[in-house]
Amino acid sequence: MKINLKVNGIDKTFLIQKNEYLLDVLRRNDYPSVRRGCDNTSCGVCTVLLDGKPVPSCSVLAIRCENKIITTVEGIEKEAEKLAKHFGELGADQCGFCNPSMALTVYSLKLENKEANEEEIKNYLVGNLCRCTGYVAQHEAIKRYLGDES
Ligand code: FES
Ligand code: FES
Repeated sequence: MKINLKVNGIDKTFLIQKNEYLLDVLRRNDYPSVRRGCDNTSCGVCTVLLDGKPVPSCSVLAIRCENKIITTVEGIEKEAEKLAKHFGELGADQCGFCNPSMALTVYSLKLENKEANEEEIKNYLVGNLCRCTGYVAQHEAIKRYLGDES
């Protein structure tokens, strides 16, 4: 069967199986920045924005995405670069595997609540499990990014 959706602002039609997850459909259609980690909703590396909200694409059935808006990290390139700059300055950068999902989640937080405090940042990022560089510097870098109007 076919589904129509918008990915990073472009209308797309994908052939899918009825029981297929969005993660598999996106990866098969050349969106490799959407990573596969645990495949069971635990790690967060498969995060995409679905109608602007972060979701683990390994748990969203593609069939439920008809006419939805999907954003991968390629769709927020400038914001991802800004965030990377703050992460880099504070030595808080994620690995290449985890960067895309982190960037999408933090971007979504910025849209929702630019003035998020430490606790709110922690709660928002609860689904992004691995932070190989630690948590403290990341929270600081995220605060700087949230206040970055450049
Ligand atoms: S691969 Fe989806 S949450 Fe881990
Ligand atoms: S494996 Fe990517 S940040 Fe830990």
